[in-house]
Amino acid sequence: MNIHTIILAAGKGTRMNTNLPKVMQPLGGQSLVSHVIKTAKESSKNITVVVGHEKALLKQHLATIDPQILTADQDEQLGTAHAVKTAAHLIKDGEKVLVLYGDVPLISSRTIAALIDSGQECTLLSMILTDPTGYGRVVTNDQNQALKIIEQKDASDDERLIQEVFTGILLIDGQLLKAALEDINNQNAANEYYLTDLVEILSAKGVKINCIQANPSEVMGANNKKELHELESILRNMGSEKLLEQGITLLDATRVDVRGDVEAGKDCSVDVNVIFEGQVTLGNNVTIKSNVVLQDVSIGDNSVIESFSHLSSAIVGSNCNIGPYARLREGSEIGDNAKIGNFVETKKTKLGDGAKANHLAYLGDADIGKKTNVGAGTITCNYDGTNKHKTSIGEESFIGTNSSLVAPVNIGKGAYVGAGSVITKDVPDEALAVGRGKQVIKEDWAKNKK
Ligand code: UD1
Ligand code: CA
Repeated sequence: MNIHTIILAAGKGTRMNTNLPKVMQPLGGQSLVSHVIKTAKESSKNITVVVGHEKALLKQHLATIDPQILTADQDEQLGTAHAVKTAAHLIKDGEKVLVLYGDVPLISSRTIAALIDSGQECTLLSMILTDPTGYGRVVTNDQNQALKIIEQKDASDDERLIQEVFTGILLIDGQLLKAALEDINNQNAANEYYLTDLVEILSAKGVKINCIQANPSEVMGANNKKELHELESILRNMGSEKLLEQGITLLDATRVDVRGDVEAGKDCSVDVNVIFEGQVTLGNNVTIKSNVVLQDVSIGDNSVIESFSHLSSAIVGSNCNIGPYARLREGSEIGDNAKIGNFVETKKTKLGDGAKANHLAYLGDADIGKKTNVGAGTITCNYDGTNKHKTSIGEESFIGTNSSLVAPVNIGKGAYVGAGSVITKDVPDEALAVGRGKQVIKEDWAKNKK
């Protein structure tokens, strides 16, 4: 079945107090609409986003999510039916249309699959609320088929007591939708074209409309910062639940943020205030201490990431110790049994098995051999103001503290660099290089000065 998802995102979101389109508000490190798109993609062949308020900005943003996404302009927001109608010309024969809201980001692919599996011409996603205020009420017959939806503003006192409400999400045969849109008018309390009117139009024609009930936390919308914050904590809970289901130990499930996908082996543990982004892979028995950011990283068995470390686009081997306060940037590859200590930054750098950079160093564009020791304060001077250059250091070498390695430069195997050196020439295997001003002693200098 070809599903075409139409995401309504033209609204202004006045209560968000923002210059951005409402659906670009961030949730879990991504925009609201990108969550919806990500989920829609799992079932849909085509995705159209209806844009209106700040549409240029939004279109730009959508193109960065996926250039295949179609958009339809709704310059005046005359109601949800009007919004869908602006996209109607993009609906192809044989397509089923899934309507989602750009500001309802936590809808699950499981729920969407249930709508699709219902196999009906039209299926609504509803929910039961003890306080249904504000929502469209679903009027059903005794076979639980929807006959119509009455909006809050148009509902009588009795109708307002109905607790089954429409979530805004539905699946409908594309041709049926297009025909119904032609029959919807704006003769109602809001003078809007209500998409929900299609229920009455179709049921009068004998179309059976089923309702599937959603878990309310999945279909919560965000109209203001308070609701956005509630979504953030729901999302955080969902993320930590996933980690717990995988058998990861969490010291406090309310203080871990999963903004990407995490895969983990056995006996991993995660302390508080850890953020996972992108694709993170942990081996067995990996320990992540508090206040660590892991973005697109893979960490081998038995490694420990100490507190306040920031790792991004990096690979860490087994039995490593990283941090505290380490920064591993893109292209960092840390070998097994290696150690990166506090205030060490690496970028596009390979650190061989068993190598160590224990304190205060910048290692960029470097290839460092096995078991080499990089002393405190070592800097690879990789940038000449225009280009980046490479530093290579052989196995089992020793770089004395506070050395500047001016790239391009090669330091051999088993070589030594004296502390405080500025190394500008290659150092052969097993050699000692010292490149610093000679110390001068002037006896009694202080006494003679007086
Ligand atoms: C709508 C439903 C209501 C349902 C509720 C669930 C209608 C008439 N009513 O009401 O039954 O219970 O959602 O939250 O559909 N939008 C546009 N263009 C427009 C109008 C809206 O893009 O012209 C977008 C909004 O940005 C928003 C979504 O559609 O993302 C829903 O619009 P909103 O005005 O919030 O609908 P409700 O009145 O809440
Ligand atoms: Ca709403």
